[in-house]
Amino acid sequence: MYYPDEIVEEVRMKNDIVDVISGYVRLQKKGANHFGLCPFHNEKSPSFSVSGGKQMYYCFGCGAGGNVFTFIMEYENYSFPEAVKLLADRAGVNLPEIEYSEEVKKKESRKGRLLEINKEAARYFYYQLRSERGEKGYRYLAERGLSEETMKKFGLGFAAVSSNDLVQYLRSKGYGDELIQEAGVAAFDEKFGFHDKFWNRVMFPIQDINHRVIGFGGRVMGDGKPKYLNSPETMIFDKSRNLYGLNFARTSRQSSLILCEGYMDVIAMHQAGFTQAAASLGTAFTIGQANLAKRYVKEVLLAYDSDGAGTNAALRAIGILKEAGLSGKVINMEPYKDPDEFVKNRGAEEFRKRIEGAENSFFFELRMLEREYDLKDPEAKTKFHREIARKLCGFSEEVERENYLEAVAEKYHIGFENLRKLVASYAAQTGLASPIVRPKSGRAEKKNTPEENRKKAQRLLITWVTDEPGIYPEIAKYVNAEDFTDELYRKVADRLFEGLSKGEFNPAALVSLFEDEEEQREVAALFNTKLEELETKKEREKALHDIIYTVKRNSYEYYSERMGADVDALNKVIAGKKALEELSKTHISLDE
Ligand code: UTP
Ligand code: MN
Repeated sequence: MYYPDEIVEEVRMKNDIVDVISGYVRLQKKGANHFGLCPFHNEKSPSFSVSGGKQMYYCFGCGAGGNVFTFIMEYENYSFPEAVKLLADRAGVNLPEIEYSEEVKKKESRKGRLLEINKEAARYFYYQLRSERGEKGYRYLAERGLSEETMKKFGLGFAAVSSNDLVQYLRSKGYGDELIQEAGVAAFDEKFGFHDKFWNRVMFPIQDINHRVIGFGGRVMGDGKPKYLNSPETMIFDKSRNLYGLNFARTSRQSSLILCEGYMDVIAMHQAGFTQAAASLGTAFTIGQANLAKRYVKEVLLAYDSDGAGTNAALRAIGILKEAGLSGKVINMEPYKDPDEFVKNRGAEEFRKRIEGAENSFFFELRMLEREYDLKDPEAKTKFHREIARKLCGFSEEVERENYLEAVAEKYHIGFENLRKLVASYAAQTGLASPIVRPKSGRAEKKNTPEENRKKAQRLLITWVTDEPGIYPEIAKYVNAEDFTDELYRKVADRLFEGLSKGEFNPAALVSLFEDEEEQREVAALFNTKLEELETKKEREKALHDIIYTVKRNSYEYYSERMGADVDALNKVIAGKKALEELSKTHISLDE
């Protein structure tokens, strides 16, 4: 489904990014760039920048970024060809019939094949639901209150009571058994031979943020076990890094995400107008999912089951949200079991009130903790207060800790000074006397890994060249694309330098080399690393020298580590050493 590169480029060049984005976001010119409020996350002061020079956008707040196609894909939720089409129409470019050779090429890749099989399977289930054999599935969903429109939006389907209809169907489409099994929709055993994985279930296709089907959840008709059966993890289905419903939720323009436990809950929420709902995929909420959510929101509202299991799951999720630096609140579902039942019985308006009244996650934790103590017993009460103090030590920022201290003291009728002393003594006992200096989260620590430092220098260098393409000849004396040790960076540097050596400079075109929105964001980040504001030419020359030196030294170390295995690496190491020696004696000159 790809258009020829030249046409894509023509469409891109005829759609000035500042013009296009101005149609969606109010932009103001500041220096070389335009700024506005980011349409991809909620913010009050503008960190969304659009560069006419680079023909790219980048948000310093949430990291969204790319070229004009990426913008349309993200904003309108379009696929790449759809974005090309929209912009071609806008600029009056005639598009040729879609070229298939590229698609055939793509089919060769295993991931692409697995995605296709999942898509075919989703189509098959969808069709079954509307056929005679799927009637009971359709009736079941309708009885649970889902409208035709909702079933369509989520692509719901049905797997009939048959042993291998889907397998037959996929074989007829030309897929081999090995691939069908790898896609997770069929299995082999002694009793049934090669057979469909899902029988007699309504089917929930699980989509990634780009609406691609990556797996399934199937709910049994009646009381069979397990109630929900999910696709196994595959090359394309990583349960810890996707969220059900996020493909819709991420464009809901809400400041929080509602996190549910079940697929049916998500669907009921969306149908009731809460399009910011998503759920984990049959496993507990993970840090990977929290980081994914963090790209779109700063706050997560937990809408977990109100039973014991749901409460425990919520407590675990709160810990993970905290670790990811997201704030959390808990929605009270009582007296109902889950969000699905709540909206069915009380309606959307009442649920909206519950959202407004959602409980701060720290207070929720304390309230759950309180249940374990008999507060009429002074000893138990003291233990409870100590436990509160221990938890308060978890706030590393002093202001935040003080605020919570105050609120908790009031809520639980503990003397403020007494509680503070308890916190201080607890902190002293456990060596957390000055928790303020502890690293705030796992993420902050990760930033300082050697790998991250290595990449930082490479990003800085690429941003510098894209800001000032004129310095390329100076850089080319010492650095080439091979010095970029990250695969994606290397690919970008390779194309960028190749263009620059011919006097061409077109960073936005490079974004289209990458199909994946994730990768496009990374490329955009590469071109938009914050460079320090340096006053004098001398300072700038020194900074550039240091960056080049760091990139070169990193690459030298990188290839040295690999020398044993890779003959080619030896040559690079020798060349690298020479360049390093030379560089340490050289002054980089920024004269034009
Ligand atoms: P629930 O049983 O709470 O889901 O499981 P639910 O949506 O309320 O179910 P019904 O249809 O209304 O009765 C919550 C989630 O846990 C996973 C599924 O992802 C489900 O959506 N789960 C549950 C499984 O993976 N397997 C199971 O056997 C049960
Ligand atoms: Mn339910």
